[in-house]
Amino acid sequence: MKSRLRRRSQNREQSKIWVESRDLPRLLRKVQSYTMVPVESMTALARLVRAVITFNIPGSFVECGAWKGGASFVMADLLRQAGARDRKVWAFDSFEGLPPPQAVDGAEALAYARNTDSPEYYDNCKTSLDQMRRAAKKLGLKPYLEIVKGWFEETLPARRERIGRIAILRIDGNWHASVRCCLDTLFDQVVPGGFVLLHTYYTYEGCALAAHEFLGKRQLGYPLEGIIGLNEGIANFQSALIRKGTTTWKSVEQEYLAAETMAAVIPAGESVILADQEQWENKPHGRFRLLPFLEENGEYNGPPEDDAAAVENLEKLKRAGARYLVVGWPAFWWLDYYTKFHRHLRTHCKCLLEDERLLIFALPR
Ligand SMILES: C[S@@+](CC[C@H](N)C(=O)[O-])C[C@H]1O[C@@H](n2cnc3c(N)ncnc32)[C@H](O)[C@@H]1O
Repeated sequence: MKSRLRRRSQNREQSKIWVESRDLPRLLRKVQSYTMVPVESMTALARLVRAVITFNIPGSFVECGAWKGGASFVMADLLRQAGARDRKVWAFDSFEGLPPPQAVDGAEALAYARNTDSPEYYDNCKTSLDQMRRAAKKLGLKPYLEIVKGWFEETLPARRERIGRIAILRIDGNWHASVRCCLDTLFDQVVPGGFVLLHTYYTYEGCALAAHEFLGKRQLGYPLEGIIGLNEGIANFQSALIRKGTTTWKSVEQEYLAAETMAAVIPAGESVILADQEQWENKPHGRFRLLPFLEENGEYNGPPEDDAAAVENLEKLKRAGARYLVVGWPAFWWLDYYTKFHRHLRTHCKCLLEDERLLIFALPR
């Protein structure tokens, strides 16, 4: 029992390393002098971008409020890494700094504008288009970026058509008027299943108010999800996300992390049984040949009636080439409900990974 517990926790560590390692820390170090966005927020952004790429949610990435370019560079670099040719990052900024905050933006915003000696004032976020262009060139990201200088009120309506569909709309313009302008002008172009990220939702009242006003005016019931890591409590949140869909980012994120873990454990192209796959909104289709379970004439035929039906179908799929069986968290009830099938898996198959999201079994030939 002890050794099983040890293996479980080792596996958990491993899967954490797989999903967060790659070259993300290196990328974040490369862009750190071009951003004021904290590392945790950048990590959350990178996850979102990767999930969108993995699950083929179509459309460009748009950042309103690019400043020196850091967050746009992260999105562009992930596109480069993925070899994406069908989308790019649009980065909008005045490059003349923030417009003055208004009373509606709240006390924090007014204090920011008054406190010009603060290290967080950053010269009212003033920077230059040339500087961002040079940085993009130095990082090799020019082909993935379209940088547009000017006030949102003019540039967004002017570029709207060229931008087309949007997968991620990242709004980092701080104040109420700027955030409203971004939502009013671009929200309709965010695709079903796409995302709007409000970076300063928890920082400035005007940003939160603009989002509530916009959703209220349009009678849109999308929830606002706090993101950054898994910590509870407002103090830990930096940004809020709106997902234009029926499920939340949290569920897409779970599916994305599961897909990453599967990719690290199971070779690409293998035939994989994904238990209760109907429960997954986004499945790693492109990477594996996913077999329906229970299967009848190549089609999904509902969950097994009983343990015997599950074992029988498993054996049939093995003969047809199935090499792995994955039980993901939406199907964890299977393990308690089909107890004999669960025991069959434990006895006859090698458990390759067991963590809070997945159980992966290699099926003997
Ligand atoms: C907090 S900074 C953005 C930080 C940046 N995303 C990063 O990675 O560090 C906010 C930016 O929004 C821009 N901005 C705010 N309101 C704007 C508007 N109405 N039109 C154009 N730019 C605006 C400012 O010029 C500023 O560079």
